[in-house]
Amino acid sequence: MKNYAIEKEIDELLSLMTLREKIGQLNQVMPPEEDDEDFLQAIKNGEIGSIILASSSVAGNGEKKLSNIDKLIKYQKTAVEESRLKIPVIYGRDVIHGHNTVLPIPLAMAAAFDAQQVKDCYRFVAKEAARDGVHWTFSPMLDISRDPRWGRIIESPGEDPLVGESVAKAVVEGFQGDDLAKEGNIAACAKHYIGYGASEGGRDYSKTEISDYNLRNYYLKAFKSAVDSGVQSVMSAFNEISGQPISSSRYLLTELLKDELGFDGFVVSDWGAVEQLVRQGVATDKKECAELSVNAGIDMDMVDHCYTDYLERSVEEEKVDMAQIDDAVRRVLRVKFNTGLFDNPYPPEYEIDFEANRQKERALAADTMVLLKNNGVLPLRKDKKVALIGPMATEQKSMLGSWTLDGLPGEVVTIVEGMKEKAGDNVNFYVPTLFDEQFIALLHSDIAVLCLGESCRVTGENNCLAHIEVPDWQVALAKKAKKSGKPVVAVMSFGRPVALEEIEPFCDAILYTWHPGTMAGAAIADILYADTVPSGRLPVTIPRCTGQIPIYYNAPSSGRYANGYYGEGLNYHDCSGRPMYPFGYGLSYTEFKYSTVSFDTDALSMSQLEGGEKFRISVDVENVGGYDGKEVVQLYIHDKVASMTRPVRELKAFEKVLIEKGKTKSVTFEIGLNELSFYNADKNFTAEKGEFEIFVGKNSYAPLAGTIKIV
Ligand code: GLC
Repeated sequence: MKNYAIEKEIDELLSLMTLREKIGQLNQVMPPEEDDEDFLQAIKNGEIGSIILASSSVAGNGEKKLSNIDKLIKYQKTAVEESRLKIPVIYGRDVIHGHNTVLPIPLAMAAAFDAQQVKDCYRFVAKEAARDGVHWTFSPMLDISRDPRWGRIIESPGEDPLVGESVAKAVVEGFQGDDLAKEGNIAACAKHYIGYGASEGGRDYSKTEISDYNLRNYYLKAFKSAVDSGVQSVMSAFNEISGQPISSSRYLLTELLKDELGFDGFVVSDWGAVEQLVRQGVATDKKECAELSVNAGIDMDMVDHCYTDYLERSVEEEKVDMAQIDDAVRRVLRVKFNTGLFDNPYPPEYEIDFEANRQKERALAADTMVLLKNNGVLPLRKDKKVALIGPMATEQKSMLGSWTLDGLPGEVVTIVEGMKEKAGDNVNFYVPTLFDEQFIALLHSDIAVLCLGESCRVTGENNCLAHIEVPDWQVALAKKAKKSGKPVVAVMSFGRPVALEEIEPFCDAILYTWHPGTMAGAAIADILYADTVPSGRLPVTIPRCTGQIPIYYNAPSSGRYANGYYGEGLNYHDCSGRPMYPFGYGLSYTEFKYSTVSFDTDALSMSQLEGGEKFRISVDVENVGGYDGKEVVQLYIHDKVASMTRPVRELKAFEKVLIEKGKTKSVTFEIGLNELSFYNADKNFTAEKGEFEIFVGKNSYAPLAGTIKIV
């Protein structure tokens, strides 16, 4: 919604700005290592619109601390007091999934299937970051991904568009609050627009081949949700789609994002993504990079100075219209007004209850964890002797995930600490192997808890793996522990989904914790001792082996008998076609029983749907087990006949409900035009008459509940 007072102020500023000052607003730079008069002079000249608080071109796994706040205040003071038009600088930073308090990695948070809980945690993350001088974060990352070889899958919402939409809304609203201009809120950035998650071979930065049909029906949905949620910026991706680099695509950046979706914030390039057009072979030099990018719709140039070095000349040569520059500047100024920077350019001062934030993080982390297997050995009893074995038992840094610039590894609660806090001396910690003396000691314990996982350093940007099997030595550890005859619980602290077929036979229970953030060990112990009942569900398929990739639940049916749902029936000679664990899957310590699903009607006309009527589909879920627990009730559709092939299952609604033991909860889903529509071959988002199968249950194998029709 445009604010006319702000638009009027922007008009006035634009009328006063020189071309150099306009281009200055489109220029994002890194701060100097040391105090630098030239840098301050550039701010005074209005040549710097934004400063990125980062230190390297490959994101994440950084150790660099935030520029100190006195410097940020000094730069801002120079801009608002000494520049000609007194336009504030906007500070951007990768506040990806936490600041001082680090949340679970984004893929883990998708596993919570609880948008409100995620949003509540991002509310305090925004406050923590804003107090450190951050105005704008480069988050949420919304790249749908089906390839665990790609290290950045850990930053993603997983493989499903609806989960992506839910995450987009939760994180944007979490960062921006109800009134972005109020203190403690920061502008969000939907990234990386678009299709980056389809990097060929799971190799970061590689090309992607995505039809417009699939782009709109899988990859675009989360970005549309972010735009509809009022996201203030979008970041262009490094990749190309079928020969067209994103950064020079006017169709994607302007016609689709700005015109069709109505995005009225600004587009920032990814780090050096403007200049890389030379390496992508579509520009001869940086000047042409600048012209291609700004004309495509990239409004701000991240750190490669193409815009400040060349655009003045490009405008004089009429290779770039002033109208294009003005639109970009307008968008940047609009965000600066929306974030309240003109009225409050300096960091807010308020107290933060970090302990409260840590307890919320602990609760969220526990709710992201997915119990994949349990032969009854979980939950643990505090009077039983536990042998803790494995590399992650005392790990801190990796529990923070691959992209935590401000969280302190030393503040991470380890698994040993979390477990000992619960069961004291009944938790015996051993070195991360099973030499003879540990093996003998294990024989005198009641149960082995293996703390397995991967370093955060093999996840995130430019950290891809060609093999996603659990490392051999960790499988060997499980195998040896099993030889003890004691029950074996595998606590899997991996960022990406890893292939579990080899290790699964040696484990009596498998708890997938992802990289759970600051309160890792406390949350893991909460689950293992049932102070929290597991309720995470897989936002991404877990393959049996690398060779199955890509494998995802929401695929269309092939025309041949051999390829049933989710690889059923299509067996490789050396591996089943079915996933190890399917999308939406997760166990609890209790059991949930579903009643017969009821439909208030099984047919609606197109005009009824267009008038806002919806199918109301209800189910009663009874907790028939011994624990209060949360269930993620899921509804999938299958559009049986359409003008294009449609997925055999599409998640169209889910609700996480707490149900006390012995009690029943009724869940009702409303399925309307939006849920039954898709982008057709003509790029129109529309529903078509015909039958839709409805599946309601606890994961993507939910049983058929009935059929509805658009007549
Ligand atoms: C990086 C990443 C992007 C990040 C940006 C700024 O290369 O691709 O996600 O926000 O640069 O650090």
